[in-house]
Amino acid sequence: MSVESIPVKHGTIVAGREMPEFSRIGVEPITGACGAEISGVDLSKPLSDEVLREVMTAFEHFLVIMFRDQDITVEQHKAFSRIFGELTELPQAPTYAGHADMQEVRREAHEPVSVVPFTKFHTDSPFLPRPPLCMVMRALEAPKYGGDTAFANMYLAYEELSEGLKETLSRLKVVYSGKDIWCQNAKLDKDKQLRLREGHSFTEDQLESVHPAVRTHPRTGRKAVYVTGAYFKGFEGWSMDDSRSLLDYLAHMPHKLQYQCRIRWKKDTVIVWDNRFLQHCGIHDYQDERRHLIRTTIIGERPI
Ligand SMILES: [Fe+2]
Repeated sequence: MSVESIPVKHGTIVAGREMPEFSRIGVEPITGACGAEISGVDLSKPLSDEVLREVMTAFEHFLVIMFRDQDITVEQHKAFSRIFGELTELPQAPTYAGHADMQEVRREAHEPVSVVPFTKFHTDSPFLPRPPLCMVMRALEAPKYGGDTAFANMYLAYEELSEGLKETLSRLKVVYSGKDIWCQNAKLDKDKQLRLREGHSFTEDQLESVHPAVRTHPRTGRKAVYVTGAYFKGFEGWSMDDSRSLLDYLAHMPHKLQYQCRIRWKKDTVIVWDNRFLQHCGIHDYQDERRHLIRTTIIGERPI
């Protein structure tokens, strides 16, 4: 569904832009950088056109939207997800309960942090030709305290760069590859291995892509840094040594607190996050508790 422009509250800037006005849903920004808690919406039922329009506006503006107390079935989860686009499988992420188009992030109470991938800031699956637009994730079980997911607004990171670096990045492309993740994982000791999907039908060609270092929103034209260390194989035409120093600088950007928000998970919390213009990371600051999140993935456009 496309987002038509809706009125803005003049003078209130949040997430780097004027706050839209909402009349059908409650919208409470989480920080000044990104994220909003949405109230007055029951995800087990189809949404009216007016509510849908405001939910999509909130998603585009805040990049991550959160709904509490959504005790929904897997089919209701998928039906809600489809308002954002077409669901896609992922080659590497473990699936949930036999649903090829659902993934899970699961760490059992006895398991080490290493069982879940990427505890540093990253964007998911950038090696795909059309990486995910967003994820719709629901908590089945969350630690009593801790286990939040942090997000960083990469539009804000881009907008604060100097004109010189913006100019350099505008010409750069990044090579991302997921081809070697299984064999790299197999080399690790058993207790250090990631939980990966066993098999998939993606071709080798679909596991490596070259994408722009600055990504542009196809509707608004707003730009964001689109560089992450996950699956990073270098800037196109640069050696890995040359690439590494610039990557280190850019990979540090999402750590700035002024770009971030955090989602505190509770059972039946549902979030939708934009995987194109946010980076995220799970925070494993808890022990001896189970954390179990399930999600759908919506296919995105080829990055421009
Ligand atoms: Fe991730």
